Amino acid sequence: MLKIAVLVSGGGTNLQAIMDGIAQGEIRDTEIVLVLSNNPGAYALERAKKAGIANICVSPKDYADRKDFNAAMLAKIDEAAPDLIVLAGFLVVIPSEMTAKYAGRIINIHPSLIPSFCGTGYYGLKVHEAALARGVKITGATVHFVDEGTDTGPIILQKAVEVQDDDTPEVLQRRVMEEAEWKILPKAIDGIATGSIPYGKAVKKG
Ligand code: GAR
Repeated sequence: MLKIAVLVSGGGTNLQAIMDGIAQGEIRDTEIVLVLSNNPGAYALERAKKAGIANICVSPKDYADRKDFNAAMLAKIDEAAPDLIVLAGFLVVIPSEMTAKYAGRIINIHPSLIPSFCGTGYYGLKVHEAALARGVKITGATVHFVDEGTDTGPIILQKAVEVQDDDTPEVLQRRVMEEAEWKILPKAIDGIATGSIPYGKAVKKG
């Protein structure tokens, strides 16, 4: 059984896709041992509560500095002893202590086809605003292993999504979630849990 910790900051639709995937048997041999949020107002925490899954908020506002916050976050994750950490809309820079300790055991969902529209400053709606501003006709989502860089780790799965002429960032974001994110994130976890996707190896900055 693959034990996963899911780290979230917002609405938690990707968390929901994971919970549904486990319930429906699309994600096999997997158990969520912790949902952790940096944001006390994250609706993702409500989703975890409703499903009876262990959940906690570790807010940077409760700590003197980033170092203390990072240490507290890592301690809570260590306590849950996950095999895999899943960043599902987690908008916190992952500290190097965590990428070192969990090398090859952290995955992230990003709402574009990496290497387009990724890296520092590209998160959430901003990614879709940038895609529309550039006028791309195809976008999508990427699941990748997390290394010490931002969106630089090895790519696991990608799925393309068409941009429509009248798209707004919100409309495009929703289509990328429905057609790509909610499919490839559960698929990646299932692949890791069932052994078709190797994990746990040290990942190098790409
Ligand atoms: C998702 O679109 C996810 O890909 C994105 O934040 C959203 C979270 O939605 N993540 C990033 O931009 C990471 N760089 P959710 O809380 O409903 O899953």
